[in-house]
Formats: sequence, structure tokens, C-alpha cells
Amino acid sequence: MTHPAIAEDIFGNNFSKALTYHELLATDGTVRGFIGPREVPRLWDRHILNCAVIGEAMPADATVADIGSGAGLPGIPLALARPDLKIFLIEPLLKRSVFLQEVVDKLELSHVEVIRGRAEEKAVRKVVGTVDIVTSRAVAPLGKLATWSLPLVRSGGHMIAMKGSSVHEEIERDAQLIRRAGGGNPKVFTVGEVLVQPTTLISIAKLQ
Ligand SMILES: C[S@@+](CC[C@H](N)C(=O)[O-])C[C@H]1O[C@@H](n2cnc3c(N)ncnc32)[C@H](O)[C@@H]1O
Repeated sequence: MTHPAIAEDIFGNNFSKALTYHELLATDGTVRGFIGPREVPRLWDRHILNCAVIGEAMPADATVADIGSGAGLPGIPLALARPDLKIFLIEPLLKRSVFLQEVVDKLELSHVEVIRGRAEEKAVRKVVGTVDIVTSRAVAPLGKLATWSLPLVRSGGHMIAMKGSSVHEEIERDAQLIRRAGGGNPKVFTVGEVLVQPTTLISIAKLQ
């Protein structure tokens, strides 16, 4: 599938690397079962571009940990759109972490590090320390996500999760878990107004 014209603006100097990533997801990513065959025609709109634009919510030179990266979403498009960020991709499954390392090597992303493990594991926390921002997409319900994400966020930093329309119900349901994990009041907003479908994000500050 040809890319939407806006992809060239979003990825700038890294546009050819974004084309390569699209190709890798459409071929290896599908064959290895990370991407459903029905998703291939909508890889640009539903996956790559809507992940890339989350960088709009991040300051320059921030450190980021993307938990449950899977085949690299949102971490790889974010890394391509925002080469100033330092990004950890955290993924427990061997097959997925191997694919992630292959992508990082092929695209020569020296600002990205793949870590095999679960976000809540001590060993992972030891390597990552604390970062400015923890990102995620489709990893867990909000309360559990806050419990996994916020320990990796420095005081005053944020967890930023890509969520769908049920986000307000999740906030209400999981308010206590969020507070217990050290989170402040969640904010819901959209980024990527240039896209056909903007991306909805929830941001929660780490209070202490
Ligand atoms: C549904 S997939 C989503 C993958 C990717 N974020 C995406 O949007 O395409 C959920 C991913 O979270 C990972 N995962 C599950 N529990 C996790 C944990 N505790 N820490 C880090 N990753 C986890 C799984 O291995 C899986 O790759």
C-alpha cells in the first residue's frame, strides 16, 4: 500500500526508514504472527502514523520507556519521528523482542534499546531506572497499566497511554489504583490533528 503524503512530513529525514519499517511489518511481522493479515492495508493509518504523532505530547530530548512494544508500536514510529528521544522498548516475549532487535539493527536506531522482560520486573527497573515518559498501546486495563508504568516514571514525569473511547470509564473504574500507584489526575486529549483519525491519549503525572 502506498503511504499517505503526510507520512513524509511526519518522518522527515527518517521517511525512508519508515518505509522500511512498514515493509517489515507487512512481510516478516505478518508471517511471524505479530500483525493480522487484515491489518496490512491499514498499517499506515491505524498503526504507524497514529503512533508516530504521540511525540507531539513529549518535550525535546526526553527519555521514554515503551512497555509491551510487541512489534514496535508505538515505540518504533515514535523513534523515527523523534530522533532526539532516548527510547527503551520493553517486551517480555522472546519472538517479539528478537523482531524488535532486528528492526532496531536494520534501521540503525542508535537511540533505541530493546529490553526483554516485563515492566514490573526488578531486573527491568534496574536497567531502565526512571524515565521522563512511559508509553503504551493495548497492553492492559488502565489500573494495571498505571501499576506497571508509574514506578518507571521519575517524579514529575508522565505515563502516556494510547486508549480508545472507553478511556473515561476506565478512569472512573480505576481511579483508586492510579492514586495508589502515585498518579495524579488523568488528562485525556488528542494529538495528530493532521491525520484522518487523531490519536486519543491519556496522560497521568507521577506525583512523588
Ligand atoms: C496486545 S499486544 C500490543 C503490542 C503493541 N503495543 C501494539 O499496540 O501493537 C500487548 C503486548 O504487551 C506485552 N506485555 C504483556 N504484559 C506485559 C508486561 N507486564 N510488561 C511489558 N509488556 C507486557 C505482550 O507481550 C504483548 O506484546
